[in-house]
Amino acid sequence: MSGSVKVSAPAKINLCLGVGPVRDDGYHPLATVFQSIGLFDEVRVRPAAEDTLTVYGDGVDVTDVPQDGRNLALQAARLLAAHHGVDEGVEMHIHKRIPVAGGLAGGSTDAAAALVACDALWGTRTPRDTLVGLAAELGSDVPFCLVGGTAIGTGRGELLSPVMTRGTYWWVVVPDDGGLSTPRVYAEFDRLTAESGTDDPEIPPSLLSALRAGDVEWLGGSLSNDLQEAALSLRPDLHHLLEEGLEASAHGALVSGSGPTTIYLCESRDHAVEVASAFDRRALVAEAPVPGARVVTR
Ligand code: C5P
Repeated sequence: MSGSVKVSAPAKINLCLGVGPVRDDGYHPLATVFQSIGLFDEVRVRPAAEDTLTVYGDGVDVTDVPQDGRNLALQAARLLAAHHGVDEGVEMHIHKRIPVAGGLAGGSTDAAAALVACDALWGTRTPRDTLVGLAAELGSDVPFCLVGGTAIGTGRGELLSPVMTRGTYWWVVVPDDGGLSTPRVYAEFDRLTAESGTDDPEIPPSLLSALRAGDVEWLGGSLSNDLQEAALSLRPDLHHLLEEGLEASAHGALVSGSGPTTIYLCESRDHAVEVASAFDRRALVAEAPVPGARVVTR
């Protein structure tokens, strides 16, 4: 057993996000390619008599992040404790750099990191498959946040298979203060597709070929997001950001997941810094793919 464990928790983006008609359980069938990007929260845990949580924002507004048992990361600690019959609390500190409710899976990745952190703290050595199963109980994106890299997600996003990619990808990430609730964006998607209907979602083959080839221009032209229309319907002002990024020479521009964060594909760090400087608001540069939640110090 160790005194304290710190875990890095990367943000995720969706390079494509195909969404099918809502299922009986309220979830939508997905066909997506997830990618972890180099924008990280940090989750630190140490033993305590009772669970406590403190959340710090680093350039990020954390007023809407619950600091009690409603927080998914604390729920992750409880779930792992129950699984192993561990009768201990944790003092948890989350250092947030990933925008909250931004479509970057910030809450999900903190939960994945909490699983990894508590597993190391308690020395429970949970097999990887079991940890991924527990992650799926917490949320649709949590398994991918654990695994990281680049992966296909199906089911409601929790069924993963790895994707071959070549090279490093550089993204500009433009956060937005007016967070969008994921269920609200899915509800808007349902409303917009009520008449036309939707097909079963598929991964565009050209996207996988572009990733295999490491061809940034090709990848930029293959990005897609079925939730983008719904996110833009709720936040029409995001249109001009996407246009601005393309005018600034990004190879592709997309709403990230359910938004409102927007992302821009670039061919190098220098190119990304140049595109980022074209926005009249804060824009971050992140490389990808990066590994999932990992212990950094213990
Ligand atoms: O799984 P998670 O709790 O992260 O999902 C949050 C919400 O997003 C769900 O309650 C649902 O409204 C929506 N969702 C969905 N279909 C998915 C994933 C999420 O409708 N595949």
